[in-house]
Amino acid sequence: MQVVTTIEENRTLLDEARGAGHTVGLVPTMGSLHAGHLSLVERSVAERDITVVTVFVNPLQFGPNEDFAAYPRDLERDVGLAAGVGADLVFAPPLEEMYPRPVVTRVSVADISEPLDGAARPGHFDGVATVVAKLFSIVGSCHAYFGEKDYQQLQVVTRMAADLSLPVEIVPCPIVREPDGLALSSRNAYLGADERAAAPVLHRALLAGAAAIERDGIREGAEIRRLMTDMIGAEPLARLDYAEVVSASTLRPVDPLAGELRLLTAARFGRARLIDNIGVTVAGT
Ligand code: PAJ
Repeated sequence: MQVVTTIEENRTLLDEARGAGHTVGLVPTMGSLHAGHLSLVERSVAERDITVVTVFVNPLQFGPNEDFAAYPRDLERDVGLAAGVGADLVFAPPLEEMYPRPVVTRVSVADISEPLDGAARPGHFDGVATVVAKLFSIVGSCHAYFGEKDYQQLQVVTRMAADLSLPVEIVPCPIVREPDGLALSSRNAYLGADERAAAPVLHRALLAGAAAIERDGIREGAEIRRLMTDMIGAEPLARLDYAEVVSASTLRPVDPLAGELRLLTAARFGRARLIDNIGVTVAGT
C-alpha cells in the first residue's frame, strides 16, 4: 500500500501497472471513510488488479456558506482503512497540487445537473464534474466506482464520461445503511443524539413512497411527493429541502408514474444536510 501526493507519480505508477497488463479500479472520495466508501473499495479490489482510492476535499463543489472548512479530515485513519480492505494506492494530493492556479476551466453537465441538488446547491455539480474529470485524466483508463447514495452525482459523472469519450467505465454501487435505515455519510458525524435519532425518517419516507407506488398502485407523482413531504414534515428536527419522484434517467418528473423511477430527498438536521434515495420500477411500462 502506497500513499502518493503528486499527479506525476500517480500517473507514472498507474501507467506502469497498465503497461504490465493490470486493470485499474478508481474510487474517488473526500476521505473521512466509512463502510459506504469501503464497500466501493472492496468491490474494486474484487474486480480489478490495482485499486486506487483518491482522498481530496474538493473546494470547487462547496458553496460559500457550506462546510468546506469544517469537513472532517483524517488522512492517517483513511489510509489505514483503505489498506485494510486491500487498496493498493491512496492518491491524496494537497490543494496546491490539484489547483496551483485560480480555476478558470470548468466542466459543466447541463440539464441533468439542474434539478434537485443542482437547484439547492448552485455550482455544486460543476465543481464535482470538474474535479472528477481531472481525476479521470490523472488516473487514465480505468473502471470508476461510485455510490448510488449520491444518485444525481452518479448520473452527472456517467453522462460526462460518455459525452467527453473519457476512457473510464462508471460502476454504480448500492447504498450502505445503518441498521435503522440511515444512509452512511461523512456528514452523519455532525448529528447530535436527538438529530441522529430523527434522521432515519428520510429512509422511512422513501420506503413509504415506494410502497405507495408498488403496493398501492398510485401513479400520480404529486401524491407520492405529498406523502413523503408530510412524513418528513412531521419530524420536528427535520427541515425539508425536497422530496421528489422522477425518472431514474432524466431526473425530471414523469406523469403518470411509469418505468424506472427514483425517489430522492434532502433535508437538514441541525447543521447536517443529508440526502437519500431509492429506486422503484413500475413494471409493464
Ligand atoms: P464522498 O462523499 O466522500 O463519497 C465518495 C463516494 O462514496 C461516492 O461515490 C459516494 O456516492 C460513495 N458513498 C458515500 N456514502 C455511501 C453509502 N452510504 N453507500 C454507498 N456509497 C456511498 O462523492 C464525493 O465524495 C465527491 O463528490 C467526489 C465524487 C469524491 C468528488 O469530489
